[in-house]
Amino acid sequence: MEVWEAIRKKRAVRVFKNEPLSDEAVTRILDAGRRSQSSKNTQPWDFIAIRDRDQRQRVSELGNWTGHVAGAALCVAIVVPTSQTGQDVDWKHMFDAGQAASYMQLAALEIGVGSCLGTVYKQEEARQVLGLPADKTIHIVISFGYPAEQPETPAKKGGRRPLEEVVHWDRW
Ligand SMILES: Cc1cc2nc3c(=O)[nH]c(=O)nc-3n(C[C@H](O)[C@H](O)[C@H](O)COP(=O)(O)O)c2cc1C
Repeated sequence: MEVWEAIRKKRAVRVFKNEPLSDEAVTRILDAGRRSQSSKNTQPWDFIAIRDRDQRQRVSELGNWTGHVAGAALCVAIVVPTSQTGQDVDWKHMFDAGQAASYMQLAALEIGVGSCLGTVYKQEEARQVLGLPADKTIHIVISFGYPAEQPETPAKKGGRRPLEEVVHWDRW
């Protein structure tokens, strides 16, 4: 699959077939995240790869819209250093985490695996469920699995803002 085709076709997939991913597929996805770019090449991420059904169920309860994790074949929690900036979230770490997430999602798409992000809101529960030390935090998890539904391209509802609206040439 061409990169451009992947970018054009990628949709969030939240319903998955009850079919496991091969070890090769899981490794491919995780390795794509590992290869992502990061600020000053700091690679601030760790990934917790969750295949266990009970653990996925627990993780699916850590956000308000993370139910899709329960039915996925694989969940990857993106671990970042706990913010030291006084803000809840360190923007640089989350920018890097976002890129790792995108790489994983595009690599998954190439091998027919769908994915969806999930936002973690229950930080204390996340810490307990995933055994995180105080200096590590999870804001985003990703569900992966073979799609049980084929989301429309482009999505009927939503889609993307037109290029002319998004792009400002030379200045705002
Ligand atoms: C930072 C971020 C957080 C997200 N959190 C959730 C979430 O908690 N639950 C969920 O179902 N989707 C979540 N999504 C997925 C978005 O809803 C999805 O990417 C967006 O609606 C576009 O979907 P589409 O590519 O199918 O058009 C998140 C996406 C991003 C980038």
